[in-house]
Amino acid sequence: MNSQSASDGDIERAAALLRDGKLVAFPTETVYGLGADATNDEAVTSIYTAKGRPSTNPLIVHVASFESLLTCVDLSDPKTSKRIAADLHALSPLWPGPLSVVVPRASHISPVVSAGGTSVALRIPRHPIALNLLEVCGRPVAAPSANPSNYISPTTAEHVRKGLGDRVAYVLDGGPCEVGIESTVVSLIDETPVILRPGAITKDDLEGALGRPVRVNTTGENSASTARLSPGMLAKHYSPHTPVVLMSSISPSTQLPTRTGVITFSSSTPISFTPTEKRVISERGDLAEVAARLFAALQELDEATLDVIVVDTCEPIGLGAAIMDRLIRAACTS
Ligand code: TXA
Ligand code: MG
Repeated sequence: MNSQSASDGDIERAAALLRDGKLVAFPTETVYGLGADATNDEAVTSIYTAKGRPSTNPLIVHVASFESLLTCVDLSDPKTSKRIAADLHALSPLWPGPLSVVVPRASHISPVVSAGGTSVALRIPRHPIALNLLEVCGRPVAAPSANPSNYISPTTAEHVRKGLGDRVAYVLDGGPCEVGIESTVVSLIDETPVILRPGAITKDDLEGALGRPVRVNTTGENSASTARLSPGMLAKHYSPHTPVVLMSSISPSTQLPTRTGVITFSSSTPISFTPTEKRVISERGDLAEVAARLFAALQELDEATLDVIVVDTCEPIGLGAAIMDRLIRAACTS
């Protein structure tokens, strides 16, 4: 559904704005990104301002090709450079795609991207409009999800306009995002790769490509130092304004408020109450469909003045791990 609705003229205009230090929202296969020239300190700073994002939460830098990705990595440390270069080559068949790698940052990338650290997260997105924009722009583009900090990530151009309004100079419309949840973030800084955020590229995919075990930094293991390392690991995140409750945590005897909405992952999911609003986001529990439609359904029900949104759950395996990661954070009350 990556309908390339943006024309060449739209992409030229967006690329010119980026080179001029302005903010441009663009579609990727995961979610929409809020982009700025990653080599321009001031432009990158304006991303944090527009999102209300804490300056301690680093950004992902997007590039159009593996060659460009390599130019953003500092491979000068003789102790780690060989291993990191080999890991990047081993992962290269997964790009373009929903994978971000954390590596040492090359000096031409703004340190503002790294929130004071020395590493940078890099990825080559798979959406044709994103790739076209990055090529025409000719610069690496820093882009977090194009939502106000802590709100649900946008999967349509309309979500971006609603969330950020005139804080963004231009929004490129590429239709609804195909994957629908944010990229997998894996750190290659230490010998053992660590998944900092699960996504559509799974632990198995990474272990298959790298040929060695990969560690998962789960919510349960979330320590203060991990939270600083990747604030996406903080418990409360990605949440609608309406309280979210997981279906697995209620029973037929649970007293629910009058205006209760529900999101199910299959038309056969049993519901023990009468909902005010109901969205079935996949007929047969297809997790790719669930991921693609989850954030739009949450946003839609968040606009329906409900007291609570009850959301279906799935096994936290493969793509299910990424879906449950987002839902547990959305349902978190702390
Ligand atoms: O799919 C995606 O990744 C989307 C699209 C636009 O590419 N972007 C996105 O960005 O989700 P954002 O900023 O919402 O999430 C970036 C995540 C955060 O959890 C951040 O803490 C982590 O990546 N991250 C970025 N740079 C890092 C670094 N140097 N070290 C550790 N974690 C980092
Ligand atoms: Mg985000």
